[in-house]
Parts: sequence; C-alpha cells; structure tokens
Amino acid sequence: MMKVSRFWIGAAVLTMVVFASAALASGHGDARPMKKGILLVAFGSSEASAQVSFANIDKRVKEAYPGIPVRWAYTSYIIREKLAKQGQLLDSPEVALAKMQDEKFTHVAVQSLHTIGGAEYHDLRRTVGAFKMMGGFERVILGYPLMSTQEDMQRIVAAIIKTIPKERQKDEAVVLMGHGTHHPSNAFYAALMFQLQLKDPNIFVGTVEGYPDVGLIQELMLKKEIKKAYLMPFMSVAGDHAKNDMAGAEDDSWMSILTKAGIECVPVLKGTAEYDEFVDIWVSHIDGPLSHF
Ligand code: CO
Repeated sequence: MMKVSRFWIGAAVLTMVVFASAALASGHGDARPMKKGILLVAFGSSEASAQVSFANIDKRVKEAYPGIPVRWAYTSYIIREKLAKQGQLLDSPEVALAKMQDEKFTHVAVQSLHTIGGAEYHDLRRTVGAFKMMGGFERVILGYPLMSTQEDMQRIVAAIIKTIPKERQKDEAVVLMGHGTHHPSNAFYAALMFQLQLKDPNIFVGTVEGYPDVGLIQELMLKKEIKKAYLMPFMSVAGDHAKNDMAGAEDDSWMSILTKAGIECVPVLKGTAEYDEFVDIWVSHIDGPLSHF
C-alpha cells in the first residue's frame, strides 16, 4: 500500500514538472505578446552639432511610426569611447539588441543610418544575423542604408538638387564630400555623380577616403573653367570631416586645395540628416522590415 501511493505521488510530481516546463518553454516562444521596436544604428559622432541631425531623425521616425519604441546604437567603438569619457553612454548594436531582448521585444526593425552599404553596414548585418540565429526575437530585420536601390539613387539626386543653396548660379559648381571607403560599395559615389550630372553637369561628388578624390574633382572643374564652388558634406552629420577635411584652414583641406587652384569656395556645414529630403529616404526603409511583422 505504502509503495503504491509513493509511486502515484512520484508520477504526479513528474507530470507537474513536465507540464510546468512545457508552459515555460511556450512562454519563452510563441505565447509572448507581440512587442515591436525600432533600433536606429548610426556610425555615431562626438560633435555636438551632430546631435541636431540625430534629433531630427529621431523625431521623423517617431512621427512615421507612432507607438513603436525607438532605441539608438552607434557602430563606432572610438566614438562610443570618446562619448563615454564625457559621461554620455551609448550602446553598440549588440548591447542595444541584448537590452531589447531583456525588455521582451518580439519584433525588431533595425535601421542602418549609414550612407552606403559599406564595412559598418556589413558588420551590422552580421550582428543582426547572429541575433536571428539565437532566436531571442521572433523577427529581427535590418533595413537598407540611404543609398541602396536605384530608386534610392533617384530620390537622392532629387534631394541634393533641392537642398543646394538657392543663391548658387548654374555656372558655379556644387562639390559634395562623401566619406569614401576601401569597401567595394565605394563605387556608389561615382555612380551618384554620373546620375547627378545628367540633371546638372556642374555637380561633383568626391570622397575623403576613396574614389573619386579631390584631385580628380579639381581637374574636372578646371577643365570646365569653374570659378566658384559650394562645398557640401555628403554625410549624415557635419562632423569632423566636414569641419576639417572639407572646410578647415589646413593646407590639405578641400577648401584650401580648391582655393589655391583658383576656385572660390563657399562651405555649407550641414549634414544630410539635417534635411527632411534625405531623412525621409532612411525612414521609408523601415517600411521594409515592418511590413514583415
Ligand atoms: Co571617417
């Protein structure tokens, strides 16, 4: 008698354990209530002026997708370190996604705020892929950077033409300064210049670290006997590159090089993310991931 009841008690306990663990397992997976989130990922900038750009993106995203929490991460370790020393803590994409997992988000749209699909974007792809494999979210999808599809290219051409200073005359040049990279995606800059020049032959696109460089842009402008040029950063923020490499007083800044070549230069210190024309392209890229949720 004693033996039988022990057996049944044991069986009942075992059954409870099995059901409880099954309930826990389903609670961890399908049974979680849907919680959507957006993670915006920028390269980052330690320049105070860049905050204008990021604040504008944040505002536009929240207007476009009301009710969906928006989080931020910076891909640049150097920038995050620099900001941390000033007491400003920003997450890497990895940490931001882990925190969102902790907060029980189920569906996350990660939006790259990079300009092209270069090295930083592809690092982010790997991070998002790792979170996909771990299965902590039901869906985690990465949106394209600014300049990705042919449609983006046409929208960018229109945005550039619209944001050129009004006082610029047609025989004066506009020189855009892209970042440039060793990554194969660097080809986008020359492709953009080709498509811009179909609309306005005096718009040029150069890069700080890739092709075309400022020497080639100078050569093209001198061939056209251009006397004056508006210099504009083709980067989301008017940070260090815009202030120093583009408009700085040093001998190797674009301003100094082109002025020495006889071209009067007017620098415009405003990043693309300060104009809604560009921000709306990034924002529209969040539609892709969100349409799968
Ligand atoms: Co740089």
